[in-house]
Amino acid sequence: MRLLFLGDIVGKPGYQAVCTYLADVRVQHQIDVVVANAENVDNGSGLTADQYHGLLGSGVDVLTLGDHLPRCTTISSILRESQQIIRPANLPPKAVGSGWTMFDLGVGKLAVISLLGRVYMRPVDCPFHAADRVLGEIGDQADWILVDFHAEATGDKQLMGRYLDGRVTAVLGTHTHVPTADTGILPKGTAFQCDVGMCGPHESILGRKIDQVLKHTLRAAPVRFHVASDDVRLCGVIVDAGSGKLPREIERFEKKIG
Ligand SMILES: [Fe+2]
Ligand SMILES: [Fe+2]
Repeated sequence: MRLLFLGDIVGKPGYQAVCTYLADVRVQHQIDVVVANAENVDNGSGLTADQYHGLLGSGVDVLTLGDHLPRCTTISSILRESQQIIRPANLPPKAVGSGWTMFDLGVGKLAVISLLGRVYMRPVDCPFHAADRVLGEIGDQADWILVDFHAEATGDKQLMGRYLDGRVTAVLGTHTHVPTADTGILPKGTAFQCDVGMCGPHESILGRKIDQVLKHTLRAAPVRFHVASDDVRLCGVIVDAGSGKLPREIERFEKKIG
């Protein structure tokens, strides 16, 4: 089983790049299933129903979200009903949507779990306890398990990787939008990367226009951050999991669009 996990899709440039190129990428890299983080699609924050349908239509199988969930104001019914989009599992119990889902590939089932970090982020329930709870709910139903750990601190992410090492197929980080150089297999067999990077404009500050972020930072000016446009890339990782729960290989994926 070959899984492509794409990091945060940012704005129109990221969305259009996924919609335009994903079908070819799937064929070229012999991908069986695609999971992507969609928290930044709608002008950099959130996701609309049209974008949800557009991404699934382009070849994404499961969408994850993150701390921009409160901006997803128009997709409550999709979150409630769809098996192909999840929100973080460590939100309050009454939060709309599910914190994990199961995707049937025909040859096996992939469980996808979304978790939010707590370091330098808004308070949420403990992601480590949430991971244990969800893994208990999944039981032995899944052949492979992917965790999208949407967190700020690399130490937090490394700790989650070690906590789940040997128990899940992959722990892959999102949220910071910059790929880290720690792609690999942990000692007990789980594929890991602190952050897989973003799908969007890299001539930017995490996807936003540099001059606007700079103006705000230097002058404390009330500036709106618009999504940048240049050097668009698709970033993520490909995990080759074979038929067993633990992966054979993980490699960085990057496609420069222009
Ligand atoms: Fe985020
Ligand atoms: Fe993000």
